[in-house]
Amino acid sequence: MNTIIYANQKRRSVRDLNKNLPISQDRLEEIVKSVTLQYPSAFDTQSARVVLVVGEKHDLLWDKIIEILRGVVQGDFSATFARLSAFKKGYGTILFFEDFKPLEKSYENFSFLGLETFKNFSEQSSGIIQYALWLALAYEGVGCNLQHYNPLIDEEVKKMFEIPSDWSLKAQLIIGGINKEPEAKNLKNINTLVKIIK
Ligand SMILES: Cc1cc2nc3c(=O)[nH]c(=O)nc-3n(C[C@H](O)[C@H](O)[C@H](O)COP(=O)(O)O)c2cc1C
Repeated sequence: MNTIIYANQKRRSVRDLNKNLPISQDRLEEIVKSVTLQYPSAFDTQSARVVLVVGEKHDLLWDKIIEILRGVVQGDFSATFARLSAFKKGYGTILFFEDFKPLEKSYENFSFLGLETFKNFSEQSSGIIQYALWLALAYEGVGCNLQHYNPLIDEEVKKMFEIPSDWSLKAQLIIGGINKEPEAKNLKNINTLVKIIK
C-alpha cells in the first residue's frame, strides 16, 4: 500500500499514553527536524517554530497547565484533572508556534490579498506541519493526540521555555507509547464527502 495512505489510516488520536516511546530520542529528534525542514508553507515563508519538550520538562509543563486550568475551570475539576494528568503520563509534548514576521514581509508585496488571508495562511501552514509530524510519528508507532490549551497557557509556556514573545502558540501534540488503542471510527459515506467530476 502507498506509505502515506497507510500512515493516514494508522494515525489516530491516542489519549491513553505512557512514557515508553517505541523509537529512540535521537530518532524522535530526527523526525521532528526533518518534517520541520521540509513542509509546505505559504510563500515558502517557513513560519513554523517547533519546540520539543520531553522528560522532566514535559511533566513540569503539564503541572503548569493543570495549575492554570484549575484557576479557570468553574465547579468540579476532577474530569479536567484526569484528562490533563493523562497527558502528563505521555513521553513528551511538541509545541507548534507560528512566527508571523516572515509572512509580514510577503504581505508587503501582496497586500491586495488582505491581512486576514495571511493570518489564514499562517493557521493553515501550522495545521499542515502538525499533521505531517503526527503522520510521521504514527507511522513509526508513536501514539499522539492534539490539544489546544492556547491561548490560556501561552504566557506561562513562553516564560518556562524562553520562547520569543511574538511567536503565536497554535497547538500541542502529546506523544508517547500507546497504552490503549482508540475505538474504531464511524466513517462517513465517502460519496457524501467526495465528488468526482469527469
Ligand atoms: C484542528 C483540530 C483541532 C483538534 N483539537 C483537539 C483538542 O483540542 N483536543 C482533542 O482531544 N482532540 C483534538 N483534535 C483531534 C480530533 O478530535 C480528532 O482528530 C477527531 O476526533 C478524529 O479522531 P482521530 O484523530 O482518532 O481520527 C483536533 C483535531 C483537529 C484537526
